Amino acid sequence: MTRDDSPSLDYIRSLYAPQDALLTHIAQQLQAMGVPMQVEPEVGRLLQVLIRLRGVKRILEVGTLGGSSAIWMARALPEGGTLVTINKDAPHIALAKESFAACEVGHRITMLEGDAHHMLPTLADAEAFDMMFIDADKISYNDYLDWAEAHLPKGALIVADNTLLGGKLPLDGPQYRIAPTTRANMLRFNERLADRARYDGTMVPTQSGLSIAIKLF
Ligand SMILES: C[S@@+](CC[C@H](N)C(=O)[O-])C[C@H]1O[C@@H](n2cnc3c(N)ncnc32)[C@H](O)[C@@H]1O
Repeated sequence: MTRDDSPSLDYIRSLYAPQDALLTHIAQQLQAMGVPMQVEPEVGRLLQVLIRLRGVKRILEVGTLGGSSAIWMARALPEGGTLVTINKDAPHIALAKESFAACEVGHRITMLEGDAHHMLPTLADAEAFDMMFIDADKISYNDYLDWAEAHLPKGALIVADNTLLGGKLPLDGPQYRIAPTTRANMLRFNERLADRARYDGTMVPTQSGLSIAIKLF
């Protein structure tokens, strides 16, 4: 695990994941809004490499925030590739709209405004998504995985951020300030993705935990 302020992390970021003016601007806006919860640059870069390794063409994201991860991913798509992202909070939607309008690959991105529980069932052609990135309310990760299992094709890539709940799992106790239901839900989510009969996956030990799995059924 690498701490956020480590020299090695700075080195990795400067070598592989420098942020351009747009991503830097979004990060500053999120800091000012008090919600700096976007993917770290090295995770954005990892998402890009995964997209290219798997030849991903159509991505579904749950949890847009200011649009950082969507922009990282959309930039890795081939010509004609598309990304649909779902978000429910008005201030985040407003910032993401600005971000996508300013982004050179914003035309690849469609944002759906509303709660993912309501938006997912409305998606036409759901089986055409070959990647899903889950990065929204932690309590609902199993709901999103239920949807993915029912709709995504065999071979689809499922990636989920913060699956160690900020580095706290599997620790337990009031000092860690994790609601027992959130903890139980995330443990269950991780057990599901670790089932080798159904997924080929692993978790990258980033500070918050990044799960990566290929759907085998
Ligand atoms: C961790 S942030 C996403 C960060 C973003 N993926 C990035 O890296 O730039 C979580 C986002 O999910 C949104 N969210 C939480 N619960 C949601 C739900 N049930 N439906 C849709 N969006 C939700 C929040 O409003 C917030 O913008």
